[in-house]
Amino acid sequence: MTTCFLNGNYLDIKEAKISVLDRGFIFGDAVYEVLVSQDGGIFGLNDHLNRLEKNLSEVMIPSPMSRDGWREVLAKLISIHEKVNLSLYIQVSRGAAPRAHAFPHDVKPTVFVMCQPHVGDHEFRQVKCVTLEDNRWGRCDIKTTSLLPNLLLKNAAIEKGTYEAILVRDGYVTEGASSNIFIVKDSRVSTPSLNHKAILPGVTRKLICDVVRSVGVPCTEREVRRDELLCADEIWLTSSTSDIVAVNILDQMSVGNDFRYPLGRRIHKAFKDYKADNFLGL
Ligand SMILES: Cc1ncc(COP(=O)(O)O)c(C=O)c1O
Repeated sequence: MTTCFLNGNYLDIKEAKISVLDRGFIFGDAVYEVLVSQDGGIFGLNDHLNRLEKNLSEVMIPSPMSRDGWREVLAKLISIHEKVNLSLYIQVSRGAAPRAHAFPHDVKPTVFVMCQPHVGDHEFRQVKCVTLEDNRWGRCDIKTTSLLPNLLLKNAAIEKGTYEAILVRDGYVTEGASSNIFIVKDSRVSTPSLNHKAILPGVTRKLICDVVRSVGVPCTEREVRRDELLCADEIWLTSSTSDIVAVNILDQMSVGNDFRYPLGRRIHKAFKDYKADNFLGL
């Protein structure tokens, strides 16, 4: 049995029901977060809750719960699932109302939290990717459930036999369909900046920047041109569920000359150590 939280109740996920008029269902009018827990502790909780609150405010959905409320729900789900390692999914939609584009008044947000077993602690992985044109909307900084453009791009990448789409807009790298991007050139790390609201401010992205700097390697947030991908020594993808993954083949060409990805391995190990010390109990 998997237990989830829906609007104040803990339920078997098969019993959890929402209205067909829920605006999350009808319009994708909702925001979400994904976090991981290990041995009962949660990683990056404050960063994820900060982003959730910012996103709720950006899309003008009233915040449905206090920090302590979120902590209580997550702690309870972790304890119900006997502290197995989990990925935890939080979704808040604007609520259910007769279908109309205009925001409804006096509607309570729908609050849903579910979890799935999560195999963390990955070995350093290498994956193939393709570049695709980033045709998403202009507010990719908001973590909304309106993900159809990302799904189409991810699916196109998978159909080409690859793991992830590295997205490019007007000649500049933005991010992956479900990850942030880093490049390494001559022992210097760069990642696309948060300017222009063109990418999600990934929790892992921020922590990887910190970890890179903490080992004395320069890490710059700036505009990254598409052609820099072609001559990069290493390319990495980052996300909460996959940590840091190296790209070994991009558009059917090898990335870099040293297929051991030395800096990627070093940062993977440093991040793993940082994470192990920062799964905080609730
Ligand atoms: C589009 C996109 N960019 C970046 C990320 C990585 O964000 P985080 O490190 O907060 O998981 C995700 C995660 O799902 C994503 O969907």
